[in-house]
Amino acid sequence: MAAKVTMPSLPEKPLSNVPLQLHQPKNFQFDSVPESHAWLDLHDHPTVEPIGPDTVPLIDLTDPKLTAKISKACEEWGVFQITGHGIQPDLLTRLEAQIHRLFALPADLKLNAAKSPGDVSGYGLVPISSFFSKLMWSEGFTISGSPLHHAQKLWPDDYSSFCDVVEEFDNVMRQLGNKLLHKILLSLGLSKEDIIRACPVRDWHDMSAAVQLNSYPPCPDPDRTIGLAAHTDSSFLTLLYQNSVSGLQVLRPKDHTGPMRWVTIPPVPNTFTVNIGDLMHVLSNGRFRSVMHRAMVNPAKHRISVGFFCGPPMDVKVGPINKLTGPERGPVYRPVTWQEYQRLRRKLFDKALEAIKIGEEIA
Ligand code: OGA
Ligand code: NI
Repeated sequence: MAAKVTMPSLPEKPLSNVPLQLHQPKNFQFDSVPESHAWLDLHDHPTVEPIGPDTVPLIDLTDPKLTAKISKACEEWGVFQITGHGIQPDLLTRLEAQIHRLFALPADLKLNAAKSPGDVSGYGLVPISSFFSKLMWSEGFTISGSPLHHAQKLWPDDYSSFCDVVEEFDNVMRQLGNKLLHKILLSLGLSKEDIIRACPVRDWHDMSAAVQLNSYPPCPDPDRTIGLAAHTDSSFLTLLYQNSVSGLQVLRPKDHTGPMRWVTIPPVPNTFTVNIGDLMHVLSNGRFRSVMHRAMVNPAKHRISVGFFCGPPMDVKVGPINKLTGPERGPVYRPVTWQEYQRLRRKLFDKALEAIKIGEEIA
């Protein structure tokens, strides 16, 4: 069963038509949280520290028992952290420096690289903002394809240092994402041959990916606002890098250790947090559930994060893998492409997965 969460403040009017300048007056230099950014319902469930049974699994990708560990983590959590991934710390340091360079630019310069209406790439509000009447305490920069066009607008004379790091990151993360995708499919009990037959991604060149840079400025009253509202990702899986400032939380269902609760996923140097997205939920026929998560803000420190979203090639339909369906549990979801699913999400947000349930199509 998908985790249920109270959605904060239903949109009274969509924000997508409001000029971006109005969204971030004074570049977050507020003495207090203005009404535009004040959220209700943030304390729908208790928040717990990552200790004891609420410690997110940390998995070394070189572990001989890797498949079993991933299987357990995906079933019990839908999220885990990884070491032994082979991504050089130096690359992450250089990427972090470029992200700080980007978000430290004056607001009017950043607006030169604003997303055009209907476009996914560029600077602006985080992608889910249009569903809420309140604004989030964050800025985002989405990269789908090459960042060249936008980077040239930000730094006409020095765009290549940004583009080079992003390209290097994109390359190694695609390979890591593809490796993880295959490990997750193995952990569902599929054989290598099954995976060759059924996996929508044949090799890492084939995978669709998007990079989301997030910036969460320090906030004078962090309990009144949110950096990124609760959501699931539409991807197969997402790899998240966070700097040393805590903020990511996942929703854990009620179980024998406690009630439904928000669990902090602490930043651990040189690790990535991997979470299951809606399309993996579909591919596994609901066995590996996509996980609800959100980002809180910090009173003193600037938090940044990088989401790397891995999905199928844009024209490939994803449905439950045959071998994972059976006589007593046939396919639960109808096949969709990532693009079709993203379109549904833009329309229905947290109801999109429900909408592709066989027998319950509402869109
Ligand atoms: C996202 C996301 C979490 C974070 O970009 O989809 O969930 O900590 N980010 O920034
Ligand atoms: Ni997310």
